[in-house]
Amino acid sequence: MSSDSIDMERRQFLTGTATVLGGVGASVAAIPFVSTFQPSARAKAIGAPVEANIDQIEPGQRVTYKWRGKPVWIVRRTEEQLKALEDSTAVLADPESAKSIQPVFAENSWRSLNREYLVLVGICTHLGCSPSFRPLLSDEIMGSDWQGGFYCPCHGSKFDLSGRVYAGVPAPTNMDVPPYKFLTDTRILIGESEEAGS
Ligand code: FES
Repeated sequence: MSSDSIDMERRQFLTGTATVLGGVGASVAAIPFVSTFQPSARAKAIGAPVEANIDQIEPGQRVTYKWRGKPVWIVRRTEEQLKALEDSTAVLADPESAKSIQPVFAENSWRSLNREYLVLVGICTHLGCSPSFRPLLSDEIMGSDWQGGFYCPCHGSKFDLSGRVYAGVPAPTNMDVPPYKFLTDTRILIGESEEAGS
């Protein structure tokens, strides 16, 4: 065998070895890169749907759950409060909820699957304060024409008992309705709905 052909064989061997090592190196390097994009168990738990029991909620009462780090309110509305929702739309900025964040099923006056139960993200849409619950019609602080709802103490925004914002206040939109669904008549799953993509 000539020295030229020995050199050629050696060069081909070295090229092949470098390719294989390069391939191994690439896959070793890829492992930590991919693993940084795997959600941790804690992150999964924070984003997971939350189950809520509603059988103990009295008419006119509100309970709070936490979902994705946010307060989610469930309010059981009385017949009187539901009627007020239809009667007082003149004071609202967006009574049809055309500009708000909500599932399609909430595109109605009561903004819910079951008109009796409101499920709402309890955060003001102005700068994120938590509004207080003022459920009474003719509240002594809110005035005789108050129809029940939520009042944000930070800058005075007002919302009705569907989370719809009053006209002329700082909050720009209605409060958000999260995705949710009924598992049974008395159990709600917050964070998942039957709608595509939720
Ligand atoms: S944060 Fe609610 S009115 Fe400003």
